[in-house]
Amino acid sequence: MNKTAKLDIDGHIYELPLIEGTEGEKALDVGRLRAQSGYITLDPAFANTGACQSAISFIDGELGTLRYRGIDIAELCEKSTFMEVSYLLIYGHLPGEEEYTRFKEKVHHHSLIHEDMKSFFTSYPGHAHPMAILSAMVCSLSVYHPELLQPEQSDEDRDQTITHLLSKVRVLAAFAYKRSVGEAFVYTRPELDYLSNFMHMMFTTPMRPFEPDEVIRKALDVLFILHADHEQNCSTSTVRMVGSSKANLFAALSAGICALWGPLHGGANQAVIEMLESIHASGSGTKRYVDMAKDKGNHFKLMGFGHRVYKKYDPRAAIIKKYCDQVLNHLGIDNPILEIAKELEEAALTDDYFIERQLYPNVDFYSGIIYRALKIPTNMFTVMFALGRLPGWIAHWKELVEDPGMKIARPRQIYTGSREQQYLPIDER
Ligand code: ACO
Repeated sequence: MNKTAKLDIDGHIYELPLIEGTEGEKALDVGRLRAQSGYITLDPAFANTGACQSAISFIDGELGTLRYRGIDIAELCEKSTFMEVSYLLIYGHLPGEEEYTRFKEKVHHHSLIHEDMKSFFTSYPGHAHPMAILSAMVCSLSVYHPELLQPEQSDEDRDQTITHLLSKVRVLAAFAYKRSVGEAFVYTRPELDYLSNFMHMMFTTPMRPFEPDEVIRKALDVLFILHADHEQNCSTSTVRMVGSSKANLFAALSAGICALWGPLHGGANQAVIEMLESIHASGSGTKRYVDMAKDKGNHFKLMGFGHRVYKKYDPRAAIIKKYCDQVLNHLGIDNPILEIAKELEEAALTDDYFIERQLYPNVDFYSGIIYRALKIPTNMFTVMFALGRLPGWIAHWKELVEDPGMKIARPRQIYTGSREQQYLPIDER
């Protein structure tokens, strides 16, 4: 028999179905509560609200666990690649050899964007933030693919849409960078893998080809794997929200990119490095910044610290920290910023304020140090996050639109404005 919970409102008993996930997460299904009782649930910022049931990734915030389709991220980082993880997230299983080859071929095949789009980039001022360009370009790309915009798609068309975007967003990101430094656009090469091609499009110039480096490729692969999905975070929820209106994937991803831009979300990786650099430049040590973050009269927060779901060390940050050391050693870089980051972490983790609130470094705390070592400019850091998160956004969109029970997302509210009043003409106000 299906379990229910009983809710007593003024002596009226309402039965709410109980839902349990495969990892034992429990929920009350309140979908019919308003129809039965006139009450809605109120949960600002959705801190306690499940927006959907999803089989893509699982987080245990208390244990500090993250799994994609059941596989622990640490194992994926060690044994897999970003391309394979993309397949896993989007299609639900690890690909067989043939499936994987076909997938990679399709992604590579779709790497050209319409030549006309190159002129779009040159219309932006040189200082334009690449997140603004990326979001606009992903949406603009849709006009060149009217065949991929139908609200009801066949499996084949959906696959085409997915592989086009998986391939092209990386090209658009690299072009946005080239525009910002005033260099010529570079195209993919067939012999390079997905991420090496991205680095090649970013860093090859007519005078100097990009030279693949295994340590750097692996570090980037790991970073992208760690960013690939994180269940119902702000940008993914945005993608699902937009997708629920049956807007196309181009529009949904463009909106997701905008949501990611904010400093409380993916924009934190840029904010972290700026914070670490200002600590370094000030020469005043980390304590002053820890004190500022604790001061309720100050808006300053320790960027790269804290998480809505993790109440333990973010498992992604632990892995990135290890790769930070590896990359810097490999490149022979002695970066004082890394030392400041470690010192700041140590200071925060031994401070009662952070201990009581269970605030730990998150995925953004160390990632920027690796990007900086790879000569990726600071304003591209959040673009890097977007490229990593792309397969997760796509997987959630696919899961959503393939759900026969999909409905448009439409939260309710408790209205707190004026009661009904009459319109007053301007000379009577
Ligand atoms: N520095 C100082 N205090 C903090 C921080 C921080 N980074 N993060 C949370 N707190 C404090 C809050 O002030 C609050 O204190 P209070 O209980 O005394 O009022 C308490 O910890 C709880 O924090 P909330 O803001 O309620 O937590 P919420 O879940 O809403 O926010 C968030 C999570 C947005 C990540 C927050 O921790 C934050 O702003 N961190 C800095 C920005 C950041 O690193 N964002 C990236 C997150 S990861 C990602 O999106 C990819």
